[in-house]
Parts: sequence; C-alpha cells; structure tokens
Amino acid sequence: MILRIAMIGFGNVGQEFARLLLAKRDWLLRTKGLDAEVLAIATKTKGSLISKRALDLDKCLRLIKEDGSLSAYGPETTTLSPKQIIGECDADLMIELSPLNIKTGQPAIDHIKAALESGMDVITANKGPIAFAYSDLIRLARSKGVHFRFEGTVMDGTPVFNLVEKTLPGCEILGLSGILNSTSNFVLAEMASGKSMEDAIKIAQKRGFAEADPSLDIEGWDAAAKITALANVMMDARANPKLVDRQGIGGVSQLDIEKAARQRKKVKLIASAVRTGDCVKLSVKPEIIGTDDPFWSVDGTSSALTIKTDLMGDITIVERDHLVTQTAYAVFSDLLLVLESIRSGTIR
Ligand SMILES: NC(=O)c1ccc[n+]([C@@H]2O[C@H](COP(=O)([O-])OP(=O)(O)OC[C@H]3O[C@@H](n4cnc5c(N)ncnc54)[C@H](OP(=O)(O)O)[C@@H]3O)[C@@H](O)[C@H]2O)c1
Repeated sequence: MILRIAMIGFGNVGQEFARLLLAKRDWLLRTKGLDAEVLAIATKTKGSLISKRALDLDKCLRLIKEDGSLSAYGPETTTLSPKQIIGECDADLMIELSPLNIKTGQPAIDHIKAALESGMDVITANKGPIAFAYSDLIRLARSKGVHFRFEGTVMDGTPVFNLVEKTLPGCEILGLSGILNSTSNFVLAEMASGKSMEDAIKIAQKRGFAEADPSLDIEGWDAAAKITALANVMMDARANPKLVDRQGIGGVSQLDIEKAARQRKKVKLIASAVRTGDCVKLSVKPEIIGTDDPFWSVDGTSSALTIKTDLMGDITIVERDHLVTQTAYAVFSDLLLVLESIRSGTIR
C-alpha cells in the first residue's frame, strides 16, 4: 500500500519525522507493507515543494542543512500557499507541524480543516488546534470518514491520548492533573538548588529548550494550552486556553521555594482539569507538594500526567527528559494507527 503525505511545516519536528521515515523505510515495507511517500512540503520562509511523485527526503534534509532553504530542489518548488498545496496535491494524509499560535490556534486550524474537507486523514503535533477547535475538527473528521490524530501535542511521544483511547475503554475520565511545561519545571528545580529565576531561564535557553522569549512557559500559557487540549479530548470540556484560571511561575520567589524546602516540600507548576457538575474547571498554578505526591520526583525537563478515572483509580505517566525524536515518534505512531484503522475498515 502507498500512503501519500503532505507536510505543512518542516522545522525541528518535520525534519526529524523525515529522518525517522527514512530510517524506518525498509521496516515499514517489510513488516507493514507500507510505502509512505511525501508529495508536498510547505514552510513559511524556507521554500515549499509539490510533486506528483515521492520527494527525495534525503535531498530535502540536505538542502535545509546546507542552504537553509528548499528553493534549489528543482521544478517541484512552488509559491503556492499551504492551503493551496493541500488543495492541489494528491496526498491521502496531511501532517500539520506549523508553530503554536497561543492566541487563536491559527493558521493550523484552517490547514487542518482544508485537509479534512478534501478527505485527507490528518496528524498534528500542534496543540493549538486541539486547544481551540477540537470539537469542530473531530466532528468534521467524522463527517468525512477520515482520521484525526494528535498524540504529539501534549507529552511528545509519551502516550496520553492513545493510552486512554486504546487501553482504558469504558473508563470515564473524572479529572486530570499534570506537570506539563518542562521549562517551568526545570526553572523551579534550578531555583531550589539556589539559582535565581533569571539565571535558570538563561541555562534553559542555552540548553535549547526555552525560547528566546520564555513568557509562554513562565506565564503558564503553554501548560494552559496543554491542559485545555487534554480536557477537550478526554472530558469534552469545549474550552480554550483563555478560559483557564492561569497563574505562571513568574511570582514564585526564592523565599517561597526555600520555605517549602524547609518543610520537605517542593513548588511545582500544576495544570488541572476538574469536573464540577456540567462544567470542567481548568487551572494552571504553582502548588506546594509533599514527598507522597506522585510528582515529587518529576524534576528537570521531565513531565507527568495523572489521569483520574472511575474504574481504574489514578494512573500517572511520566516522561523523562524529552527529545525531538519523541515528538517525531508520536507522528510516526499516529501514522501506524491510521494505517491499522484503514486496513481494519474502522474509523476512530
Ligand atoms: N519541538 C518539539 O520538541 C515539539 C514538541 C511537541 C510539540 N511540538 C509542536 O510541533 C509543531 C512544530 O514544532 P517545531 O519545533 O518543528 O517548530 P519549528 O522548528 O518552528 O518549525 C515550524 C515549521 O512550520 C513552518 N511554518 C511557520 N509558519 C507557517 C505557516 N503559516 N504555514 C506553513 N508553515 C509554517 C516553519 O517555516 P519557516 O522555517 O520558514 O518559518 C517551519 O518549517 C509546533 O506546533 C510545536 O508546538 C514541538
């Protein structure tokens, strides 16, 4: 079977996914009988490509590395917009990997709508569309009989959505709580070892996991988008990140952390979703936790999520020190689930 792919976004995750496809090409053919071909790639400033035949991913990766652009690829180079590319290419599946827009989730939502409308399956690692438009997008996917998967949006390749969907059938999700922003978690741990917040942020930037503008992390916006995405999917919250009662770690002082440490406690940025009647209340705020808390040993750039269920009690899953390979793997694992579903004739 040939699965033809359009990629919108070819940055860190897109390029790592391309490397993963190349590394797993023989395995995919041998064990799954699948030939995954990329027919189109769109970027914002580094050129875009559209083709009737499989693009040479090795060449794309080499051009990006050496020229910083896909423009010298050949006649496949195009000036079409991402939406035009989605409309004109013959792909079966679109992978959306453009950056998060925390204010609206756009233009990723429009890219996904366009792909679903034209009958493509969609995979994304961009949490914006799940945080702002999940119910519309999943309804559209179902009405078109296509797949919409997004495992990489919250904890990279660590299974959270698939964990619930595939292994907890029949369980009701009563609540969620998690350490979902690794930069804040790292900064709090560094502050506990005596560093100032400014110095801790600089270390995080130097190590490459905090943005030049770390406010999305420090002000709790990233965690707010993630808890919204989780609650929209697992608890039908129909929320967006602006509705989250949000307080980042900006107001946490060295004194607060020292005081907690003297009582053998830690300050952690906790994102939660709690059902109250027909509503789901979402919050992100610094909380003090003790040694008996499952998040006690979740330090550094690790993340964790506790899923509260009616039949299985609390389940906690921890991701240790994420790498971009894990996000690329989330996209790859979603692709395998789409393949399995196509073959078994079922739709999510
Ligand atoms: N990096 C991670 O480890 C990680 C983990 C979990 C989730 N994610 C999510 O995965 C997505 C991709 O992350 P990333 O690290 O690969 O980001 P990135 O390195 O910034 O790459 C983003 C890509 O999207 C392109 N792009 C920007 N605006 C676009 C637009 N309007 N239309 C089409 N393409 C556009 C960029 O083109 P230019 O290069 O020309 O600007 C670039 O190719 C993001 O939503 C991110 O939140 C990332």
